[in-house]
Amino acid sequence: MAAFTTGMLIGGVSLPSRTMAESDERVEELRRRKAQAEGGGGQARVSAQHAKGKMTARERIELLLDEDSFMEVDTLVEHRCRDFEMDRNVIPGDGVVCGHGTIGGRTVYCFAQDFTVYGGSLGEMHGLKICKILDMALKTGSPVIGLNDSGGARIQEGVASLGSYAEIFFRNVRASGVIPQISVIMGPCAGGAVYSPAITDFVVMVDQTAHMFITGPEVIKTVTNEEVTFEDLGGASTHATRSGVTHFTAGDDEEALDIVRELVGLIPSNNLESPPVVPTSDPHDRECEDLDSLVPEDPSQPYDIVTAIEAVLDDGGFLEVQAEFAGNIVVGFGRLGGQTVGVVANQPRVLAGCLDIDASIKGARFVRFCDAFNVPLLTFVDVPGFLPGASQEWGGIIRHGAKLLYAYAEATVPKLTVITRKAYGGAYDVMSSKHIRGDYNIAWPTAQLAVMGADGAVQIIHRRRIGTSGNPEQERERLVDDYEETFANPYRAAALGYLDDVIQPHQSRTVLIRALGALLEKEEIRPARKHGNIPL
Ligand code: HXC
Repeated sequence: MAAFTTGMLIGGVSLPSRTMAESDERVEELRRRKAQAEGGGGQARVSAQHAKGKMTARERIELLLDEDSFMEVDTLVEHRCRDFEMDRNVIPGDGVVCGHGTIGGRTVYCFAQDFTVYGGSLGEMHGLKICKILDMALKTGSPVIGLNDSGGARIQEGVASLGSYAEIFFRNVRASGVIPQISVIMGPCAGGAVYSPAITDFVVMVDQTAHMFITGPEVIKTVTNEEVTFEDLGGASTHATRSGVTHFTAGDDEEALDIVRELVGLIPSNNLESPPVVPTSDPHDRECEDLDSLVPEDPSQPYDIVTAIEAVLDDGGFLEVQAEFAGNIVVGFGRLGGQTVGVVANQPRVLAGCLDIDASIKGARFVRFCDAFNVPLLTFVDVPGFLPGASQEWGGIIRHGAKLLYAYAEATVPKLTVITRKAYGGAYDVMSSKHIRGDYNIAWPTAQLAVMGADGAVQIIHRRRIGTSGNPEQERERLVDDYEETFANPYRAAALGYLDDVIQPHQSRTVLIRALGALLEKEEIRPARKHGNIPL
């Protein structure tokens, strides 16, 4: 239909006469502008993007969102830089595709940087488009997902570009703990640009094509004389295993977007909602028989705590977060009787499950996300203590370990705790113990709640007696047996009410689902304050 007809009356107002030819021109103009926006930096640059194994911004959004759900905004925004002949190259959209759509039928806001336009670099208007998305997501209480592929601050725009970055950072902080924010790194992300993803809740990186660093290999070579490749410095593998910057690593763009869809399905849209409930056909009273033989007789033997996690969760579904970082603690999401839970577990297979600096930070950040977004916590405990060592002490295990303690103590979501074996020393207190307000704390018969293991304890409190004994080794063994009988079990703690129950391992799923059901309406009010002062 023609947009205007001659002498048309709308709302009693006579519109100026227009010819059909004029109206066609206007529609044509609109089409031309939109086509230019959709074409991005042109076919050659699109082909170069594909040749690197990368999708374009629009292709990525198509895969991220439910089919046909994307509504773009700000398609026609243009940069207003007039320096460096920038006015000769104005591409509508300014190198970032923004809008909203749905994932699993739930609204999300998203932006995708278009590397084919000025290398996805962030100028003033590009940045303000992202700000609008963040504002809309916050106003509507919807998750926001950023697909990053950018050469960083648009060099031609100078400080205006830095200004827009800071506007984004400010909004990331303001939205933190109110709406989930997810960053996917699908290309370069360098300099101060890394700080927006770093503030968001989850970072997904694509292997080989994504790189994050503050200063690149060339600057590093000049300043410190170190030689390092892009990949070693800031590739997905580096950030997954060494720095802990990334939470998920994907083989390609498609897998990265699948991870985001799965994650969004597990968490609520904002801090006032509960996570979506997904009914399960997995029976609530399913017995986990394999768990009865999971914990080895020998307390120094390792086992895989993920077996226990997967056994109790619905259909064994577990989305592990930071799987390759600080393997001595396992964190991730799953469902119990349809309800999302955040799982935290010591992993006896790595460093015997000791808490160290990295594990404490990893656990604390995850616990705080869950608490901010009403995700109940399920904690499996098998922890011999904090990792001894000068490097840990000098690295600040005191203040980093305190983060995990602080996070658990501060969390008011339902907290379920299962002690499978060791719960020793300060680490017992930290790992969601009753004393820092665990709501439902249970143990398996193999649990040992004590200040430390029997050997160490006997060595300290009976050193003199062993030394003066006629048969020191026999005496030591007798004292170890005695200590184990007293403390290497869950019954002293159960007698004190520190445990709500001791159950057989195979009962775990049934018991946890019932306990969670009774805790879902939990409310806990803490004293009003501006904010606490977590030891950072
Ligand atoms: C403007 C940029 C750009 C930028 C790339 N381009 N980065 N334009 N500002 N920051 C343009 C290039 O001119 C080129 O344009 C196109 O994008 C693709 O770039 P190539 O170099 O051809 O691509 P590639 O070989 O894949 O290398 C990508 C790259 C490299 C690694 C990102 O371009 C690069 O090193 N760029 C500079 C990165 C940088 O120093 N950014 C500033 C960081 S400081 P044509 O027209 O040829 O296609 C920063 C501070 C943020 O970001 C502070 C926030 C507070």
